Amino acid sequence: MPTYELIVYGCQMNAYDGETLAAVMEAAGFTPSAAGDVPDVTLVYTCAVRKSATDRARGRINSLARRKQERPDALIGVGGCWPVVAADEIKAASPHVDFTFGTTSLEQVPALIAAARGEETGAPAAGLPPKRQAWPRASIAIMTGCDNFCSYCVVPYARGREQSRPADEVVREVEDLLARGFRDITLLGQNVNSYRDGGVDFARLLARVDRLGEGFFLRFTTNHPRDFGVDVVAAMATGRNIARHLHLPLQSGSDRILAAMNRGYGAAEYAGKVAAARAALPDLCLTTDILVGFPGETEEDFAATLALAEDLRFDSAYTFIYSPRPGTAAAAWGDVVPRAEKVRRLQTLIAAQRDISLAINEALVGRTVDAYVEGHSTRNARELAARTGANKIINFAGDYEVGARVRVCVTGGSSWNLRGAPA
Ligand code: 5AD
Ligand code: SF4
Repeated sequence: MPTYELIVYGCQMNAYDGETLAAVMEAAGFTPSAAGDVPDVTLVYTCAVRKSATDRARGRINSLARRKQERPDALIGVGGCWPVVAADEIKAASPHVDFTFGTTSLEQVPALIAAARGEETGAPAAGLPPKRQAWPRASIAIMTGCDNFCSYCVVPYARGREQSRPADEVVREVEDLLARGFRDITLLGQNVNSYRDGGVDFARLLARVDRLGEGFFLRFTTNHPRDFGVDVVAAMATGRNIARHLHLPLQSGSDRILAAMNRGYGAAEYAGKVAAARAALPDLCLTTDILVGFPGETEEDFAATLALAEDLRFDSAYTFIYSPRPGTAAAAWGDVVPRAEKVRRLQTLIAAQRDISLAINEALVGRTVDAYVEGHSTRNARELAARTGANKIINFAGDYEVGARVRVCVTGGSSWNLRGAPA
């Protein structure tokens, strides 16, 4: 049987696409290659959201040239967000790449492989269930693309216009996952709050999926502060399975910068929505994304971001240094904040957030939490790692199968995770 290796970078949507691509390859007769073997086909599925992501993909793609030297018949394909916006650049810089593909029509990849070999193929197999790789966790795209055009962001160009999937299709996919024993389910979209299928908006979809079972975690990401509202908070408060976790990307705490980013909300509106969510959901875990060094961001703008983060006290924050993405509106404004200043702002923010995360996690000591075992702890192979409803990793000693639901008493907390003992 022909073999393949699939290398996936980037966000949860890419991981989901990767699972679909693996299913497509296996339906076409490919099997995963053994470690150390040069596969017949190597597929690199890329991210383009930051320059660091494309640099990393470029390095990996270039290192694959060796496979071609060892086995001239081996094929290299590059897919995902990057080729959509830079296919010509990739082919010019890496002539050993045989074909590129984007984020849609993944079922066409076997035909691209056949064409690269001058062979014919049969009809593509569409609508295959993704090959799940993260038991007992699984994601489902409820929508694709993005219409928001935040001025820094390449996603609307790389993934096209927003399109919601039919609610019935989402429901069937979740039913199937629950029947197969998956217990940590995430509804995915670039902005789930703008989901709509006829009369079904996101809050209704969430409530409907919540009723499909008992005793699982239901998550959703990502939210847009402009569109996130009390209807979703109400669905979370009344749901039986919806995890008490909200990922609400702030990006900046400066109204001037938020306007330049085309985000459609101000700092006060963001803080108001957080206050409403916390009032209805007392144990809510709140996480965010923050970007520093956007063109024109002054020390004062950054101070506003830092002050808001200290005021709102996120459980954790993904922090990024702005990098211009070709084709976006902000790219025309240059990259004006000096590198050293961007790094200083990032480090200041990370240090402040580290202290906040530590204090929040230490305050959880003595609480009992439910979690699903995901495998061994990365730090200590004799311990297990499980994921809580708040999306935190808790490490503890015990003998449970991967996928087991455990009740764990929190015995310690660091900035990054929790320690515990079976309750
Ligand atoms: N530079 C740096 N970070 C970016 N993000 C999006 N575009 C850029 C960019 N050009 C960040 C945002 C987003 C997260 C997924 O990536 O914070 O929420
Ligand atoms: Fe990018 Fe904004 Fe769309 Fe998120 S909402 S994917 S940041 S354009």
